[in-house]
Amino acid sequence: MSVTLKVNETTHTIDVDDDTPHLWVLRDVLGMTGTKFGCGMALCGACTVHIDGAATRSCVTPISVVSGKSVTTIEGVGTTRQGQAVQKAWVELDVVQCGYCQPGQIMSAAALLTNNPRPTDADIDSAMSGNVCRCGTYQRIRKAIHQAAASADHV
Ligand code: FES
Ligand code: FES
Repeated sequence: MSVTLKVNETTHTIDVDDDTPHLWVLRDVLGMTGTKFGCGMALCGACTVHIDGAATRSCVTPISVVSGKSVTTIEGVGTTRQGQAVQKAWVELDVVQCGYCQPGQIMSAAALLTNNPRPTDADIDSAMSGNVCRCGTYQRIRKAIHQAAASADHV
């Protein structure tokens, strides 16, 4: 199946089986390895990308669903106002430990701030609950999202 999709503002046309997971296309076909594989079952959030702005688990999203859509990955999220604010807060608060889950965390956080510019702790916990961090960086993530929310207006 021929699929055309836009990833970080660049249009790609690829030829893959229509049930190929979007994550496989990003990593193996397009060589964009910032998006991580964790569970492959929509349970950990490591593979989160934005599809037409919505945080989506790419490991369980067949490429046929992404055809014609606009995708943002961790490689491109820094070009958005929310993504830039999130990445800045992440660095300032030294959120990352091993780092493996963090692309997915950042993508979920940026999507949250796009939909809800001033989230409460409960909003953050709800939006981020599908992103697992085995290093336990949850408290720093929550703090960084508040800091990003406060600074996003000034980016
Ligand atoms: S790899 Fe997609 S949710 Fe875990
Ligand atoms: S920083 Fe190590 S899994 Fe989250």
